[in-house]
Amino acid sequence: MSSPLLDISRVALRFGGVTAVSDVSFSVARGALNAIIGPNGAGKTSLLNCISGVYRPQQGRIVFDGRDITHLGPAHRTRLGIARTFQNIALFRGMTVLDNLLIGRHVHQKTGILAGGVYWGRGQKEEIRERERVEEIIDFLEIQPWRKQVVHTLAYGLQKRVELGRALALDPRLLLLDEPMAGMNAEEKEDMARYILDINEERGTTVIMIEHDMGVVMDLSHRVVVLNFGQKIADGAPEEVQSNSEVQAAYLGGQAA
Ligand SMILES: Nc1ncnc2c1ncn2[C@@H]1O[C@H](COP(=O)(O)OP(=O)(O)OP(=O)(O)O)[C@@H](O)[C@H]1O
Ligand SMILES: [Mg+2]
Repeated sequence: MSSPLLDISRVALRFGGVTAVSDVSFSVARGALNAIIGPNGAGKTSLLNCISGVYRPQQGRIVFDGRDITHLGPAHRTRLGIARTFQNIALFRGMTVLDNLLIGRHVHQKTGILAGGVYWGRGQKEEIRERERVEEIIDFLEIQPWRKQVVHTLAYGLQKRVELGRALALDPRLLLLDEPMAGMNAEEKEDMARYILDINEERGTTVIMIEHDMGVVMDLSHRVVVLNFGQKIADGAPEEVQSNSEVQAAYLGGQAA
């Protein structure tokens, strides 16, 4: 068996007196599509933030592809191949879809937009290649009709899709999705589920998604980690986790046994 792509070991994150993540360990196999679930405030986003580097845990170790990344900053982790989407969409709202995705590419190229020279500094060939890659993503996500549209004028479900595109523009090896389907209607959810499956199956990208929709989680995930009050209460195949009494209690709002 090959080593896991991601290994989280005894991670704890506190905000003052609040323990958001408490001694959580799990690993994610290469090529997996896994879910993190749990009631509101369980620590799911906090854990994702520890993986992407937004927060540094006070305790524990995070190993990505055999390398200890616990103390690396978010930009460094992005360069290693970890990309994410946010629970609250994080895009440049006043810019077009196309420009948002191009910025995704340029972050990958280590040339920050604010450093200047984003569109002009590098060789034209490379620029053309970057644009081709972005157009591929636009085709894949079926957002051609809106490519020149300013992001904040788009419907919410489309903005979520563009945000997925921005993350894909980084060519991630590990894609972290924080509630990719929140606020979507049934049809939009179905589309999003299909994109996530394709990303995982066809591109071979390892995915960790936080999702509240149990139907989606059960359908898509290979493995599910359940958090409750910052602690991991279950970790296994979807059907296993679904029938776990502690998980059921957590979801009913009762005290976990
Ligand atoms: N920046 C912060 N400062 C202080 N407390 C925080 C911060 N971020 C999260 N918390 C607290 O940590 C706990 C876990 O929050 P987190 O956002 O990780 O939960 P979640 O599982 O993602 O919930 P939801 O399903 O509502 O998104 C909560 O008690 C929350 O109030
Ligand atoms: Mg959250």
